Amino acid sequence: MPLYRAPRGTQDILPEDRPYWRHVTERAHAVAALYGYEFIDTPIFEETSLFVRGVGEGTDIVDKEMYSFQDKGGDDLTLRPEFTAGVMRAYLEHGMRTRPQPVKLYSFGPIFRREKPQAGRYRQFWQFNVEAIGEMDPALDVEVMSVAWQLYEDLGFGGLSFQINSTGDPRCRPRYIEALVAYYRQHLDVLGDDDRRRLERNPLRLLDSKVPAAQPVIAAAPKITDYLCDDCAQHFARVRRYLDELDRPYAVNHRLVRGLDYYTKTVFEVYAEGIGAQNAVCGGGRYDGLIEALGGPPTPGIGFATGIERIILTMKERGIAVPGQPRPTAFVAPLGEDGKTVALKLVTDLRAAGLPALLAFGDRSLKAQLRAADRAGATYAIILGEDELAQGQAALRHMAQGTQQNVLLQDVVTFLKNDSREQ
Ligand code: HAM
Repeated sequence: MPLYRAPRGTQDILPEDRPYWRHVTERAHAVAALYGYEFIDTPIFEETSLFVRGVGEGTDIVDKEMYSFQDKGGDDLTLRPEFTAGVMRAYLEHGMRTRPQPVKLYSFGPIFRREKPQAGRYRQFWQFNVEAIGEMDPALDVEVMSVAWQLYEDLGFGGLSFQINSTGDPRCRPRYIEALVAYYRQHLDVLGDDDRRRLERNPLRLLDSKVPAAQPVIAAAPKITDYLCDDCAQHFARVRRYLDELDRPYAVNHRLVRGLDYYTKTVFEVYAEGIGAQNAVCGGGRYDGLIEALGGPPTPGIGFATGIERIILTMKERGIAVPGQPRPTAFVAPLGEDGKTVALKLVTDLRAAGLPALLAFGDRSLKAQLRAADRAGATYAIILGEDELAQGQAALRHMAQGTQQNVLLQDVVTFLKNDSREQ
């Protein structure tokens, strides 16, 4: 038994999974560039109060899931449980208001939440996160959603449907929450302890309750779309009209409220099979009050994040193949000590010329080395035996074709360069 295992809810990304990670991140970078989003990297930890203010007290993330600690200097810090608050902090700190708006930014990186681990739900996971800051236009909502949509299309699992809703704004939401609380108070008998607590702290989240007995009551609860002010109602209508015009599949989900407090107006999620029934592959929305809550001037914004592990699970579930790891051009197989010295020089020259090359270590038989070359997927095995070396040559064996030819040692690099150009 090994002494240590990866902490619960974390996982190692092994070389065999690397092709998926590389493919997904490459596609995401490409889609971001296509839509004019620029890369921003923020620290993995921030001041704890940034998330308490940004994500909101009373949310599961802040109340139960943050990895918070005091460092040796007494600073209260938290491993980021999401990107958005940190990106807004950076927007303010670097005076990005003076840039042309909207400022369109995207990020990649690990996120930390102490959730109950299960299929598709981890304590450390990666997000591709997109934010567009400084613009109210509902066309931007649709652009941001399109980034996610296009990424899934490019990765080969299009045909997903967005669930959308409006969460109103500080003008209309309080009236809705009042109506919601009054409604639930009439049905306290079917609510569990958790839901009763939510009723006090965060009544909107009751719509999200999974307690079976509460489902009929929730289904009949007042709908926020009946309480929206004119501004929010018009915004929502325009978002839907643009989605219709672009033929983007979506469904209005009156129960969609999201687990973070900063949302206003548009919210959306995308669900996919194979990642746990209750898990979204993507979630986002508008946060027109967030920058102000963090001490900045009133500035609207909208964004989303999608979990890379959940994307990869979805791809595997659907049997979507990805390009494999690049294979080495050459596997250099020396026989004997003289051969080893020549091999070391040759493998160095090959790599210097940009050709991926492997060297056989130890002192194995030719047969064993050819087996290793085969396993490594090398195009050529370069055999440096006594006979070849005596003539200043190497034997180049094409592994797939089983053919072999001798090439002068000083010509091997050029030969393989030309050969790989022809592939
Ligand atoms: P979120 O819905 O909390 O939103 O997370 C976004 C995505 O991260 C989810 O849809 C899912 O794919 C992935 N995810 C979340 N939790 C886990 C987990 N425990 N394990 C694996 N994957 C997970 C946000 O984080 C917002 N900051 C998104 C946003 C950006 N809103 C506006 N801008």
